[in-house]
Amino acid sequence: MQILDGTAVAAHIKASLKQEVADLKAKGGKTPHLAAILVGNDPASEAYVGSKVKTCEELGFDSTLLRFDANITEKFLLDQVNKLNDDNKVDGILVQLPLPKHISPDLVINNINPGKDVDGFHPISQGKMLLGQPTFLPATPYGILLMLEHYNIATAGKHCVVIGRSNIVGTPMTVLMSRNANPGNCTVTMCHSKTKNLKEMVLQADIIVAAIGRPRFVTADMVKEGAIVIDVGINRVEDSTRKSGSRLVGDVDFDNVAPKSSYITPVPKGVGPMTICGLMKNTLLAARQPKTIYN
Ligand code: GUN
Repeated sequence: MQILDGTAVAAHIKASLKQEVADLKAKGGKTPHLAAILVGNDPASEAYVGSKVKTCEELGFDSTLLRFDANITEKFLLDQVNKLNDDNKVDGILVQLPLPKHISPDLVINNINPGKDVDGFHPISQGKMLLGQPTFLPATPYGILLMLEHYNIATAGKHCVVIGRSNIVGTPMTVLMSRNANPGNCTVTMCHSKTKNLKEMVLQADIIVAAIGRPRFVTADMVKEGAIVIDVGINRVEDSTRKSGSRLVGDVDFDNVAPKSSYITPVPKGVGPMTICGLMKNTLLAARQPKTIYN
């Protein structure tokens, strides 16, 4: 069994991005600039946005963090997005999700200039991805592809079972793992909360992507010997042995599944750091290209 070490792979990718940005600046190119919008004060969202901004500093990117109260109107948020769309200094825009219930995430995402959609959530980005055209890939699936690539894990002809169907992870992951590319070329099954015989489905997987958002959902009896296990879950559970009283676990019962797997991502330090790499690579790409939707 080999641990897929997201922190180590991310460090490697970040070092090369840092060099690329330094070279770009030395040639008089534009410094990549990421603008992040955080609405409200959800602690998990604060932590995610905080590490995105910190990574920008680390790599020599510019960043802007716009923080707003949870009771702003939808119209106000759309105006902020439009200001960033019109700001030539800004290359990439991300609006941290989830948003307060009175604001439609679809409407907000649809209003981001697709040329600045470094989260890869806009319908144009998702449509291009579906058609196999170059575009911004959603950061977490992109990060997982970078991880598989880094470890030279062969995927062609394998059976990949994705558990979860969110727009952010599960659905794009099924598309990316089935495309005619490397990584990709898998036979893909998507499972979700209404799937019957889920255990039997997952037992057939050579590659499992767990993105269902339930702590330790994938247990050892669901995993074939030698499977590759990618855990996207970040769930906070009670742990009285910790000072904080809680700890993070994934969607996979790591302790019992790891001995059966050939490769497995831990939580934390698995997929999480790779998501930020996906976002940073998208932002650098955005800085290098014109911001039209027809790129
Ligand atoms: N919330 C959970 N994951 C993400 C992500 O990748 N991007 C944004 N914007 N919000 C999220």
